[in-house]
Amino acid sequence: MRRIAVVPGSFDPITLGHLDVIERAAPLYDELHVVVVHNPDKEALLPIAQRVSLIESAVKDGGVGGNVVVASWSVGLLVDYCTDVGASVLIKGIRSQVDVAYETPMAIVNRDLAGVETVFMLPNPAHAHVSSSLVRQVAALGGDVTPYVPQAVAGFLNAS
Ligand code: PNS
Repeated sequence: MRRIAVVPGSFDPITLGHLDVIERAAPLYDELHVVVVHNPDKEALLPIAQRVSLIESAVKDGGVGGNVVVASWSVGLLVDYCTDVGASVLIKGIRSQVDVAYETPMAIVNRDLAGVETVFMLPNPAHAHVSSSLVRQVAALGGDVTPYVPQAVAGFLNAS
């Protein structure tokens, strides 16, 4: 049976912390789907198609294995996407206890809903302070986001 996992997120935009988790997870599964999910609780900076395109560039530039699929999902439950593609695992990067507290209820509900397990992965601590919201703020105020995001994202945001 193929082992298929999903890394979901807003990815608005993808950061070096996200890319680190993707790079660590890709070799552990036959297929890794990086899925941009619309989060109605957050005001978006980038359209979903743009986020997908920047993830594709980051994954390609990062030399991540050819088993990574980039997609988006905006209708219905995330576990419905998992069921559609045959994924039994969700992967979340955990930077701190705050992330654990945020992710734990979702992990339990996703298991209840569809038997999809969540695997928490620890990214490189060098990226522990990096978040998409911080990147959005720096970019909005005209700062250089290069230290926090893949090159393709820095090029895009610094030129915007
Ligand atoms: O990058 P984010 O914004 O922290 O990602 C959060 C996300 C999109 C992964 C989360 O909001 C999510 O899983 N949304 C899917 C909606 C869903 O299925 N909810 C019910 C079970 S938790």
